[in-house]
Order: sequence, then structure tokens, then C-alpha cells
Amino acid sequence: MTKPRLILGIESSCDETAVAIVGEDRRILAHQVLSQREHLAYGGVVPEVAARAHLEHMDHLVEDALREAGVTLGDLSAIAVTAGPGLIGGVLVGVMTAKAIAQVRGLPLIAVNHLEGHALTVRLTDDDVAFPYLLLLVSGGHCQILVAKDVGDYIRLGTTIDDAVGEAFDKTAKLLGLGWPGGPAIEKLAAECADITAARAKYPLPRPMLGKPGCDFSFSGLKTAVRRMIDGFPAGDIPRHVAADLCASFQETVADILADRIRHAMIEYLALSPPAPALVVAGGVAANKRLRRVLEGIAAEKGLRFVAPPLKLCTDNAAMIAWAGMERFLRGMTDDIDFPVRARWPLDPQAGIVAAKSQKV
Ligand code: KG4
Ligand code: ZN
Repeated sequence: MTKPRLILGIESSCDETAVAIVGEDRRILAHQVLSQREHLAYGGVVPEVAARAHLEHMDHLVEDALREAGVTLGDLSAIAVTAGPGLIGGVLVGVMTAKAIAQVRGLPLIAVNHLEGHALTVRLTDDDVAFPYLLLLVSGGHCQILVAKDVGDYIRLGTTIDDAVGEAFDKTAKLLGLGWPGGPAIEKLAAECADITAARAKYPLPRPMLGKPGCDFSFSGLKTAVRRMIDGFPAGDIPRHVAADLCASFQETVADILADRIRHAMIEYLALSPPAPALVVAGGVAANKRLRRVLEGIAAEKGLRFVAPPLKLCTDNAAMIAWAGMERFLRGMTDDIDFPVRARWPLDPQAGIVAAKSQKV
């Protein structure tokens, strides 16, 4: 039997420096993720600091990944790398590394859209997730509902009109002094809430787009409302049980907003008569267990299969980049050595045109 082809993937678009090696048989042979600690003191990602840290760690992570997989560069079939969207200094570090390896070893290169990495992860981890599927992409920088029609072919049904949902988690956590990143901290503290109904009644939060037509989101009102509630307490003196109640109320409100938007999107998606209807959730916020449970329930209402990647593949990693690269490589979709990096790169090119038009008015 011929050996499965292998792709080395590189991710450096935000604050994770990551390198992975994935086979066409969907085996993850190496999975190196270094979450940069340098940003903790700043309470958020500092682009210049991120780029320097990527530069410092990238080479040894490539070596570590090869060692973990027990292969050499000569065993690889191609190199895949995040070419955007993201913080451009960091993206450049990954892309220059990938181009150098590809040039020296004469390997094909694949420029991967980071969002497509998230979007295709479930096809790496789960059997038979067939196109088209409905995709909720929720991360620190993105919040979109898309129909994934094929590799490189997406229709955007909705997006956030202000903050991304992960950003809302991060900002709310910062207000509560819970550190960064905020999502896991809020989820953890929310679990201490004794009575969720009472917590919501005591600390009600707005749900701006609920019931409105379409699939767009809005989250910025939530953090403003949380700030107002916090201001009601003496500075820095929020009792832990109050913070837990606030976190639970926040998390449930986010779940309500996502649920309402997904219900609208499901109608549009099912109108396409997908042969194997599925709701997929991806991106860092997809690691939230409460949100996963709510989305699973909504999918069941309409008979959709619900698929979410394992937690370690929800947040940024390079296995998803290697896999998106593999999907493209197997379809002959490789890139020239001079491909550009892109700070902005919508999955749906039409979405870019719509956004540009709406910015002009
Ligand atoms: O996909 P990701 O690793 O990076 C981006 O591409 O943005 O997502 C990071 C985001 C952060 O905003 C983080 O707070 C959020 O995902 N996040 C979570 C959880 N784990 C990570 N949000 C809610 N609940 C979680 N358990
Ligand atoms: Zn991401």
C-alpha cells in the first residue's frame, strides 16, 4: 500500500505559534501549539509582541513537529500556511518560513485562509461531514454564519455588526477582572452559578437582534450593560457569587442570540435541500460547552446532525491549516511562491463587496 501523503501546516495569524503534520488518512502526526504568554500582562494581543514571539519560536516548533511525527522534510508532500486574515506581522513570519522550506525542498505551497482552516476542521475529525453544511464560525475576531458549499466556496448568511462573540467574552471578562483570554474564564465562573433563572432575572442583559429578520448579530450592548451593573458595586469589590451570576447571565444571553440567528439561518440552509443536513460550529468560542449543548438542541429541532471539533481543535492550531491545505492539495489547488499575505480575507468574496459598499454609505 502506498504511504498516505503528509502536509506540514503552519499557523501564526494571532497569538498561537503552531505547527502540525497531518496525513491524507486524517491522522494528526504532530500537533505543536505554543500559546504566547507574553500578552497576559497587557490583557490582549499586542501585534508587535506577537510577531516577535512567532519569530523566536517558529523554527524550533517546525523541528519539534518533525520529531514528534518521526518524519523528515523529505517525507512531506506539501507545505500549507495561514496567509491571512490576521495580524500581518505574525502572518508574515509563518509565510516566510513556509516559503523558505518549500523553496529549499522543492515542495508545493498552499496559502490557507485561517477561517477556512476552522471551517474544514470537522472534515478532519469526523466521518462523512458532507457539503453543503451550515457553519457557525465564532472566534475572537470573527462571528459569521455561512453555508460551506465546497472547499473555497462559501455563502455568508450573516455576520456581526459590531463585536465578534469571542471579543464580547474577552471584554466582559476584563471588566470582571477575570484575566485573558476571557471565554474559558467566563465559562468556568458561570459553572458556579447556583440558580441560572434567578441570575438572569437579577442581572438581565440585552439581546439586540433577537426576533429581527436575517442572520446578523450584535454583541456590543452586552458588555456595556455588564459595565453598568459592575459600576453599581464599589470599585474592585464584586463578590464572587455575583460575578458567577453575571457570567452565567452573559453566557445564556449569548446562547439566546446565537440560537435565534441559527434558527433563521437553518431555514435558508434547508431551502438548498442538502442531502445530509448538518450544523457545524467552529472557532475558539466553539470550545464553550454550554453553547455547544444549546446548538445541539437547535440542530435536533430540525433534524440536523450537529458536529463540533474536539476542544483542542476549536482554538487556533496548525492541524486545521494542514488539513485545509490537504483538501486543497488533493484538488490540485496549490499556490505560486509569490502569493501575498492578507490582513483581511473574507471567505465569501461577495461578503467583501457587500461590506465595502455598506461602508461607503
Ligand atoms: O479561534 P481562536 O483561537 O482565535 C481567533 O481566531 O480569534 O478564538 C479565540 C477566542 C477568544 O476570544 C476566546 O475568549 C474564545 O475564543 N474562547 C472561548 C472559549 N475558549 C476560547 N469563548 C467562550 N468559551 C470558551 N470556552
Ligand atoms: Zn481562529
